[in-house]
Amino acid sequence: MPVVIIIGGQWGDEGKGRVVDLVARKADIVARYSGGNNAGHTVVNEFGESRLHLVPAGIFYPDKVCVIGNGVIIDPKVLLEEIDDLQSRGVTFDNLRISGRCQIIMPWHLMIDRLDEELRGKGAIGTTARGVGPCFSDKVARAGIRMADLIDPEGFRERLSFALPYKNAFLEKVYGAEPLSFDEVYSTYSEYAARIAPFVTETAELVQDALERGETILMEGAQGTLLDLDAGTYEFVTSATPSSMAAGAGVGLGIGPTQISKVLAVYKAYQTRVGNGPMPTELMGEEGDTLRERGHEYGATTGRPRRCGWFDAVASRYTRRLNNLTGMVMTRLDVLDDYPTIKVCTAYRLDGKVTKIFPSSTRALMRVEPIYEELPGWQKDTKECRAFKDLPPQARSYIKRIEELVGCPIDMVSVGPQREQAVIINPII
Ligand code: GDP
Ligand code: IMO
Ligand code: MG
Repeated sequence: MPVVIIIGGQWGDEGKGRVVDLVARKADIVARYSGGNNAGHTVVNEFGESRLHLVPAGIFYPDKVCVIGNGVIIDPKVLLEEIDDLQSRGVTFDNLRISGRCQIIMPWHLMIDRLDEELRGKGAIGTTARGVGPCFSDKVARAGIRMADLIDPEGFRERLSFALPYKNAFLEKVYGAEPLSFDEVYSTYSEYAARIAPFVTETAELVQDALERGETILMEGAQGTLLDLDAGTYEFVTSATPSSMAAGAGVGLGIGPTQISKVLAVYKAYQTRVGNGPMPTELMGEEGDTLRERGHEYGATTGRPRRCGWFDAVASRYTRRLNNLTGMVMTRLDVLDDYPTIKVCTAYRLDGKVTKIFPSSTRALMRVEPIYEELPGWQKDTKECRAFKDLPPQARSYIKRIEELVGCPIDMVSVGPQREQAVIINPII
């Protein structure tokens, strides 16, 4: 099983890090290939609870090679803080490899992310304020600085001399902000570069060599398909290129489409979203608060409360089809343990008509009313279940109904945040 991709099937935070941490034991290489430190992947294992923003979730296994592929954008300060924190808890980094093609998040990206959101006012996206959108914009505009530039003192001087005057003009003239000092940026980022340089290598070569040896690569997606620049609820999406969809994954690591063997998406047993934008099944008021508290639904990156609602099978069928999933993983089933009844959205009512299509118009999506089917809850603790037959019958029926509505088998069900709290139905690797 050479290449397995794990992506998010909803609006991010589905539990991708948790799933990768479990499955990684059977992989040789674990790789991030998209997004940046807007991602927050929580892993709970023998090292305690870790929130990974850039480091792949395979890092806890010293014998796995962990790759940060070319599609990831890197804030060097955040990466070094993450490495320091994990090292202080006994995690080793001998096997971390970083692509020289990764774009770098520079101080102006952080400033522009905040200033842009202020300018958008009521139309703000609710970004993570990590500089991600402006960094990807510069990548596409061919104005970015890459890791290979950063770790080459002369190359960095050249790229910074080109980029900074242009960005300072922008900051001063468009936003009325203070310009940045060349010397300060150069010296701070050169210090980061010196520490990161030993990890940088030709990762695409490394990955292809591993595939030739018949090794297994586990690809850890960031964000979710509903946050994808193309497929998501534009403009309330992230800016990642390559995309948060399976189709873009190979681009961010140096793998061709014909080398991919399996694509799985992670879905929560309900729905959450951080930031702004449409969310048809969002529960407002007390109902939403109850679900948030039961699930401790607060962002792993920004700590913001997540918007919570019932499982949206219309949106999930849409993301299943776009990614041609080979399987699904359902997480957080245990959060629903106490509910006497559970709702699932099976269709939308849009301007008086019933539809199962996830509309491309964001305004239309803001208007849709969810049509629910109500299923009996199980009101039993599922956290100790380790086999499908251990789950209460109503929980099994809930899983089966979601498989039917989304149109894809569920290969694994997670019943708690810890590594072993899982029911494996079909082995992922
Ligand atoms: P990611 O960004 O997709 O990796 O997900 P996050 O880490 O942002 O959010 C998922 C949250 O759910 C984390 O706090 C996990 O520890 C937690 N989690 C994952 N799976 C389960 C589960 O099955 N049950 C419970 N209760 N929590 C889970
Ligand atoms: P993981 O990998 C949840 C959301 C932000 C905002 C929008 C744009 O942990 O699942 P950005 O900073 O990317 O420009 O913000 O995207 N967002 C996420 N939401 N999980 C994530 O990553 C996210 N990454 C970005 O909240 O709505
Ligand atoms: Mg997250």
